[in-house]
Amino acid sequence: MTVLEAVNVVRHYPVGRKLLRAVDGVSFQLAAGRTLAVVGESGCGKSTLARLAALMEPPTAGKILVTGQPAEGPARRTLQLQNQMVFQNPYASLNPRRTIGEALIEPLTINRRGTRPERIADARQMLDRVGLRPEAFDRYPHQFSGGQRQRVAIARALMLRPAVVTADEPVSALDVSVQAQVLNLMRDLQDELGIAYLFISHDISVVRHMAQDVLVMYAGRPAEQGDADAVLNRPRHPYTRLLLASTPFVDPARRATTVAVRGEPPSPVDPIPGCAFTSRCPHVTEQCRTERPLLRLVDKQLVACHYAERIGLY
Ligand SMILES: Nc1ncnc2c1ncn2[C@@H]1O[C@H](COP(=O)(O)OP(=O)(O)OP(=O)(O)O)[C@@H](O)[C@H]1O
Ligand SMILES: [Mg+2]
Repeated sequence: MTVLEAVNVVRHYPVGRKLLRAVDGVSFQLAAGRTLAVVGESGCGKSTLARLAALMEPPTAGKILVTGQPAEGPARRTLQLQNQMVFQNPYASLNPRRTIGEALIEPLTINRRGTRPERIADARQMLDRVGLRPEAFDRYPHQFSGGQRQRVAIARALMLRPAVVTADEPVSALDVSVQAQVLNLMRDLQDELGIAYLFISHDISVVRHMAQDVLVMYAGRPAEQGDADAVLNRPRHPYTRLLLASTPFVDPARRATTVAVRGEPPSPVDPIPGCAFTSRCPHVTEQCRTERPLLRLVDKQLVACHYAERIGLY
């Protein structure tokens, strides 16, 4: 069952007299119990796409469907409960003056779920599920480590039993040694509860560990998307190839945290007519400069490159 779907979503922000095209036509489907990773370098539109998907802001064009229903009009509010967000910095998303127990109970109280004793029991059970001790219930966020706080943030996101959790760089702020523990917890919870994850990351090794499907974004648009194995092991888009080549994944302790593809993406306020990757692509031709490549099926994945067939061959 598809629990989250984006249909050609666009998000433009007015900047002075121009429009900044943060997300410029992205579509995907995410099935229950699966993980779709969104990757790409800083500023490519990952967080904007996450906010659109989690119904935190409306798209300029296109639509989002949650559990098969279009997130429009009065339905938005109820569908929002089905897609909860986890952010990069768990400290910022927790109120320092509220105990962990209160933080977990709050979504239930706001949405009038259960009685007070039921809410408390539910919160205690969730604490246990995310691997925190019962004492955590009465403690405050500052009494926990970064990894523990992210466990709390995940627990809070799950209190309403959403079909989808959108996680925006959920482990990027954590020590490398703690990252794997939190990722494994997320996978265990997925198996146990059947949650789907929209998983935002710039770290390819994390994506390999988590996702069955991958969407590679470049300058607000999809460059390549599809089955994770196909995209990550047999990439067809020159940008994906560079992204993978610049990210060592053999030694997790020395994992690259930034992606180094030489050159700059085009300005998001001055779009160019052809392919957005022309300024950096080693294979660029005249056609690339004038004709925007459409996303099309090449082999097992969707690729937005005029030369995808050729590029896959060497
Ligand atoms: N509310 C906003 N108003 C104006 N511009 C915005 C807004 N939010 C994002 N942008 C712009 O949209 C583009 C995409 O930003 P976004 O935060 O989605 O990128 P990102 O891929 O998440 O980057 P990072 O990896 O650094 O988190 C950027 O050019 C950013 O400056
Ligand atoms: Mg971001």
